[in-house]
Amino acid sequence: MTHATELHTDYLGLRLRSPLVASAGPYTGDLDKMVELQEAGAGAIVLPSLFEEQIEHETAEIDRLFSVHHESFGEASSFFPEVDDYNTGTDAYLGLIEAAKNRVAIPVMASLNGTNVGGWLRYARLLEDAGADAIELNLYTVAADPAISGAAIEAEQLELVALLADEVGIPVAVKISPHYSSLASFLHGLQEAGAAGLVLFNRFYLPDLDLETLDIKPKVSLSSPAELRLPLRWIGIAREFLSISIAGSTGVHSGRDAAKLILAGANVTMTTSALLFHGAGYLATIEAELRQWMSDHEYRSVDEMCGAVSRDAAADPTAYERANYIGNLTSYTSRFLGAQGIGLRGT
Ligand SMILES: Cc1cc2nc3c(=O)[nH]c(=O)nc-3n(C[C@H](O)[C@H](O)[C@H](O)COP(=O)(O)O)c2cc1C
Repeated sequence: MTHATELHTDYLGLRLRSPLVASAGPYTGDLDKMVELQEAGAGAIVLPSLFEEQIEHETAEIDRLFSVHHESFGEASSFFPEVDDYNTGTDAYLGLIEAAKNRVAIPVMASLNGTNVGGWLRYARLLEDAGADAIELNLYTVAADPAISGAAIEAEQLELVALLADEVGIPVAVKISPHYSSLASFLHGLQEAGAAGLVLFNRFYLPDLDLETLDIKPKVSLSSPAELRLPLRWIGIAREFLSISIAGSTGVHSGRDAAKLILAGANVTMTTSALLFHGAGYLATIEAELRQWMSDHEYRSVDEMCGAVSRDAAADPTAYERANYIGNLTSYTSRFLGAQGIGLRGT
């Protein structure tokens, strides 16, 4: 029997028409692709990130130009074109927000990427003034300094989130990696610091080593559906102690993948790699699959699905945690050896 399916969902206090969101990536920086994404059913769009380093660099450059020439102010105006050239990064970003708001009707979220408390945060207000519906802060860091503890890094990041949430009137989502020592505690801390939502997870781009040239090369590779399991576990665990929004990100390649993250407790799911593989219009295929699954399983709305199989709602809550690990290893080993005709020791 076919049921009408209701895809509306609440994310960061915004009512979205669909839980399928285009995450920050090459397509969301292009106005024509944004229109395609909207036509394919996207609930919202997250723009590519503006980096802390870009903002700091340009601010420092402006300061430098003004301080060098302030004693001969008459000449200073001739340096404005130079400042303008330097500003293309940040200025172009504000222009992108304005243009996006003119081209598409769905919410447009700006993205900032940074980890240090500093003056660059004030720039967030310009993103708000340009019309961004929300800001996604990507806390991308590689904790490579042995002198700085995890606790110190986390404390600075929580302070950063609190300052940013104070700076702007629009909601702030925080996108993080899974690499924290006590992830549940950090997620809770982000909520306390004022985040309106969490994006679980960011995906790390790992460098490779070229064995011929011995160069370390940055390598961007797209995700696979198998990577869905990490956000699936943590969204399932976090849903019960987070009252703010959750976006499931990494490994969403089909409507069934989206269904899994929503059942675990995500309010929206985000996709980049699958769109780069198949084109922006593929979002409509993901939506059709999600609707089909919902209809087959008699879910009428995303709101009804959200969290239906989170840790506290699941038939076996331990399945999200360590307790299930030993049982799984034992059953895998006996199936694997059994298939090769080898008996387990003592059996
Ligand atoms: C080419 C490329 C560019 C990306 N640029 C950004 C970015 O500017 N900011 C950001 O937060 N994430 C960026 N991402 C990460 C994606 O938003 C997303 O988190 C990641 O690809 C995992 O989701 P997926 O499995 O759907 O691809 C980028 C990813 C790719 C592949």
